[in-house]
Amino acid sequence: MKNIWIVANWKANKTIKEALDWLEIVGPNLKGQDNVKVVVCPNFLALSEVKQQVLVNSYPMLVGCQSLSRFSKGAYTGEVPAEYLKELAELAIIGHSERRQNFGDSDEVVVLQAEQAKSQSLKVLFCIQDFATPIPDGIKLVAFEPIFAIGTGNPDTPQSASEVAKAVKQKLGTQTEVLYGGSVNSQNVLSFLKQELLSGVLVGKASLDPQEFLSIASQAFRL
Ligand code: PGA
Repeated sequence: MKNIWIVANWKANKTIKEALDWLEIVGPNLKGQDNVKVVVCPNFLALSEVKQQVLVNSYPMLVGCQSLSRFSKGAYTGEVPAEYLKELAELAIIGHSERRQNFGDSDEVVVLQAEQAKSQSLKVLFCIQDFATPIPDGIKLVAFEPIFAIGTGNPDTPQSASEVAKAVKQKLGTQTEVLYGGSVNSQNVLSFLKQELLSGVLVGKASLDPQEFLSIASQAFRL
């Protein structure tokens, strides 16, 4: 049975309290199912508290970070290195288009970030914006997120996402798991999850509301 990843990317949203309120609703209502990997990616401030609550309550979910430093620990003011994130997260989103556009995460920088993540055994969820985005060596989990679809309410078609997944698998190997992201919500998620070549979704805006997110995740459990 293939894995299905349902990844919540909260971006720069939620106070610690809002994060914990969300978790209190979502955590107890998630079914544990081996092949369904539910991941929540809070901002750095909420990461520690979210991780603690997930552990204490044994919620069937993983915790991820949305970025990390390209450097290891040391004299890098303002940075958060993989060495410390690994205690709080199992997964790291790298190469998101918002990072590329606003924070100078170039193709060269994301390679370094991926190396840092891997050196600390953080699973990399590597975002590509189109088929041509270079993918660093050793990446096994990719999210295809076309820029026109992010936060616009205008998702790509499942067929087009599948085409990109096919191309990625041809390039990196059939074991590579490819997710789709961009305006996924409870109304359209099933059309993406039903695609044989897709292994889940990366959800931004629609992941912020706990009921909406539960409704998205529950469709993965029913497949
Ligand atoms: P969206 O964001 O679901 O709000 O379109 C997805 C993402 O940027 O990961």
